[in-house]
Amino acid sequence: MRARGINPPPSLALPFGKPGVSAQRVVLAYSGGLDTSVAIPWLKEERGLEVVALTVDVGQPVDLDQVRRKAEAAGAYRAVVVDARAEFAADYLVPALRANAVYEGVYPLSTALARPVIGRHLVEVARREGAEFVAHGCTGKGNDQVRFDLAIAGLAPELRVIAPAREWNMTREQEVEYARARGLPVPAGRASPYSTDENLWGRSVECGVLEDPSIEPPEEAFGWTTAPSAAPETPSRVRVGFDRGRPTSLDGTPLAPVDLIGRLNRLAGAAGVGRIDHLESRVVGIKSREVYECPAATVLIEAHRALEALVLPRDVLDFKRTVEQRYANLVYEGLWFSPLRTALDAFVSATQDRVTGEVAVQLFKGSAHVVGRRSPYSLYQPSLATYSTGDRFRQEMAEGFIYVWGLPSRTWSSIEPRPAAPSALASKLRP
Ligand code: ARG
Repeated sequence: MRARGINPPPSLALPFGKPGVSAQRVVLAYSGGLDTSVAIPWLKEERGLEVVALTVDVGQPVDLDQVRRKAEAAGAYRAVVVDARAEFAADYLVPALRANAVYEGVYPLSTALARPVIGRHLVEVARREGAEFVAHGCTGKGNDQVRFDLAIAGLAPELRVIAPAREWNMTREQEVEYARARGLPVPAGRASPYSTDENLWGRSVECGVLEDPSIEPPEEAFGWTTAPSAAPETPSRVRVGFDRGRPTSLDGTPLAPVDLIGRLNRLAGAAGVGRIDHLESRVVGIKSREVYECPAATVLIEAHRALEALVLPRDVLDFKRTVEQRYANLVYEGLWFSPLRTALDAFVSATQDRVTGEVAVQLFKGSAHVVGRRSPYSLYQPSLATYSTGDRFRQEMAEGFIYVWGLPSRTWSSIEPRPAAPSALASKLRP
């Protein structure tokens, strides 16, 4: 089979519109913010391209009609809005939950998971519009550029990616000036010192005072969660139902994933649950301070792990933890559309057939603790575990088991150790 065209990075093959020839098209991932708004005239003026602005709804709380009008006002040839919430939840968030995907032990990958779904829609719209180019507003310092570029590489290697903000070297002030000179609306008043990104799975906050990792995030940085100190003084409970590792109900009410996640974000957020302060290792080698609010993700992952502990044998749990870490890393690193993710998902899927049941989680002043779990596939056997009447465990068998199990230990320690010799490496290092 012949490989589809693999193109060089865009900086090595600059597109320019030819006079007299109808303009080529670019599909731009458009958020409605300053960067992507400035990118519209930039792509037209610097590259001679017709810009199709694509806004993908992944649950960010913005007025999408307003965003569409903004794109048109900025000079987009067409403005498209796609509601990808159900797809995002079912095909990205649920698999990540089944994999308990958490980066560096704390970050549920909210932003990272949204990039591939946006990338998929960029590709779909580019094909529909006959566009040869796609574009995004990421800078050259972050992870998101990696995720967009690799989503495109994984799905449509024939498309070329343009990242204006990686090239234009404008400060925020210069961007505002650029926008103003072209009659684009610019943020009124003093702009927020923070840079945020939001979707169903969480909210990220960067910049401003947060850039000093020694300073506690001020209350104003948070948008989804009540301060734990101000949260209700009495604990609340939520019961999460799972079917084969997929969350399907809250407190007994069946809900579609989008609604379940939305409701749980509000419920747990009100209890101050889901605040994360992460000193994060970016793909591009930079350490950065990231603050997140992920109430639903925090509760769901906690509950899902508790149910797995009830229904999966020890060796599967143990091996799955290794897979989970690899899975989280590859999502973070932009490799969603990769053979490794497909293969790891196959493993994870094979572990989820019995992850069905219900978990009770207590929410209290910033914490989410599992306080009960049940499943028709529970491996917990009262007659084996009990210390009361009805014990069926044959304790006398334990001695023989331990005799065999401990044989290597006994053999090892029965041999007189030789006196320690100075190590070859240590004597080499010594002057
Ligand atoms: N550091 C986080 C991540 O890589 C959050 C990125 C936020 N992105 C943004 N465009 N504000 O997932």
